Amino acid sequence: MEFKQVIDKRRSIREFSNEIIPNEIIMEALHNGLKAPSYNHLKQWDFIMVRDPKIKLALTQTEEMIEEVSTDLIHAFEDYENLAREMYLDAIPKQKRMILTAPELLVVVYKPKTPVKDSHRIYDLNCLASVWCCIENILLSLAEHDVLGVTFIPKNTDKVKEVLKVPNELEVAAIIPFGYKDKDSKIIEQKEIDLKTRVHVNAW
Ligand SMILES: Cc1cc2nc3c(=O)[nH]c(=O)nc-3n(C[C@H](O)[C@H](O)[C@H](O)COP(=O)(O)O)c2cc1C
Repeated sequence: MEFKQVIDKRRSIREFSNEIIPNEIIMEALHNGLKAPSYNHLKQWDFIMVRDPKIKLALTQTEEMIEEVSTDLIHAFEDYENLAREMYLDAIPKQKRMILTAPELLVVVYKPKTPVKDSHRIYDLNCLASVWCCIENILLSLAEHDVLGVTFIPKNTDKVKEVLKVPNELEVAAIIPFGYKDKDSKIIEQKEIDLKTRVHVNAW
């Protein structure tokens, strides 16, 4: 697939078909993840493939997950731009289901340079920036094979770490349900940006 096609194909989906993903596609994606730039050259990233339904359920119990669109939820997003509101109202009620039903669930773990609570400068967050480069490589590599996912950021990472027995000195970056697209899977229109309005030469 052309690089541009892969870039365009990578979109977030939250409904998956039951089709099994060949292990080679998954391993290739993780391998490509490990080729991402890393701030200290050490690529301190680990991957947990969660396949036990009981562990998936425990992950969804680490925080409150809204399963229906209520009037309160609609009010909470009424001042948002149309596309963002559409995305949140579509995505929020799907969080629990996507974690439980995606054919694969990947948890990406990284080694923080400075604990998040003690970070004061952008520099302190280099570890987080790096692990997201890794995550994007993984998503693009999967997209090359028509496998799509979505990055879910858990709110209570301490509880997630407990469920997954992640060593204390490491941190959870994202939980990524992925699989082939369900035929009814909704893909929200991507926000179009006029590049000219975002490019500045020499100074703002
Ligand atoms: C840092 C980050 C955090 C995100 N967190 C969530 C999340 O918790 N749940 C979710 O359903 N989608 C999440 N997303 C996916 C975004 O909603 C999605 O990328 C955005 O709507 C753009 O759509 P696209 O990925 O199809 O281009 C996250 C994306 C990023 C980059």
